[in-house]
Amino acid sequence: MDHVFFCTGHALKIPNIVKSEGLYLYDEQGKGYMDLESGVWCTSLGHNNAEINKIIKNQTESLMHAGFCYSNEILEKSARAILEIAGLNNGKCLFLCSGSEAIEVSRQMAKHLTDNKVSLTLHDSYLGAYSSITDKSKNWYLLNWEQCKICSDKENCDLSCEVLKKIPKNVSEFIFEPGSSSGFVRFPPKSLIKNIIKIVRDNGGKIVANEVTTGIGRTGKWFGYQHYEINPDFIAVGKGIGNGYPVSIALINEPTAQELEQKPFHYSQSHQNDPLGASIVYGVIQYIEKNNLISNAASNGLLLHKELESLVDKEIIIEVRGRGLMIAIDIKNNEITNSIYNNLIEKGYIVGNRGASFRIDPPLIITKTEIDGFIEALRESKSLYK
Ligand SMILES: Cc1ncc(COP(=O)(O)O)c(C=O)c1O
Repeated sequence: MDHVFFCTGHALKIPNIVKSEGLYLYDEQGKGYMDLESGVWCTSLGHNNAEINKIIKNQTESLMHAGFCYSNEILEKSARAILEIAGLNNGKCLFLCSGSEAIEVSRQMAKHLTDNKVSLTLHDSYLGAYSSITDKSKNWYLLNWEQCKICSDKENCDLSCEVLKKIPKNVSEFIFEPGSSSGFVRFPPKSLIKNIIKIVRDNGGKIVANEVTTGIGRTGKWFGYQHYEINPDFIAVGKGIGNGYPVSIALINEPTAQELEQKPFHYSQSHQNDPLGASIVYGVIQYIEKNNLISNAASNGLLLHKELESLVDKEIIIEVRGRGLMIAIDIKNNEITNSIYNNLIEKGYIVGNRGASFRIDPPLIITKTEIDGFIEALRESKSLYK
């Protein structure tokens, strides 16, 4: 079939998906594919979730969109719910449309408040699709934490280290992606992150936690930064909070929200604070709480990790890294990775593949039986290369 939709440089994986349910996508022949990538980390409660669908239907029948100068009950209720799980009582919540936008708006607010110019992030983080974030040639400082590998005491990072001394004084915000590292699941040392935060804050800069992938339960806690014992000024939330619907959030802590009252920030985008997105956010939070999906992500994440570890042979599967249901597998080389990937697709399993790695980020509803099925399929695919 000739496709006229534009695929922006990504290879088409499976043509003509016609329906979905839970962990599965189905093609027109009725073949099911277990989606271990959650539709690029979005469908955290599974595809076609009946409770979320009902919320969408009800909300569209009352108030889907009003404009950014109108308030309503669901916006307030949803904002309170997400601020509460983030522990940001008396903070503020801005509903937006994509993870990229939540990062971009947090940056704009930080720059507006601090009058500083330079954005700081770790060299391997992914922050979004906009040129303001992808083009790091001007007004960005990328801290290469690979250099910390030479440090023998990673958990006792020293403020006098040369890597830290190079951080510019005029940083407006440090955007920290807690452990995804562009999906390759690498965890910067806690003491390094605490020291970066100290330096940035001492110079008047803000801290943004990029929770677009790590947030909403994926790592076995509500937010990935909670593994780091830090308190961000802004939290950018996306992907899983909409279960496939494009809603994202910029959360603002209380002191920063007060600063924004003193120095008002202006942002015009037609779909900010849409009631439909807010209703979905509220529904997703309720669903996660009702079904204990945070602890499910922690326990089934451990199980999946352990079973994947049993496949590590250092010949084909080199390494497994993970936290909760956010896992990366390093494979010998690109060629074998692509072959195993295609074989898994044939068997009805979708994983994320990039370079010589797989990214495994299944919906938080995954069960032990489904994990076992995938492990068996991967074991068989891997054995083709012995
Ligand atoms: C860590 C991280 N931040 C931000 C984004 C951007 O989110 P979106 O694609 O919703 O704009 C992504 C998307 O993959 C991401 O992985």
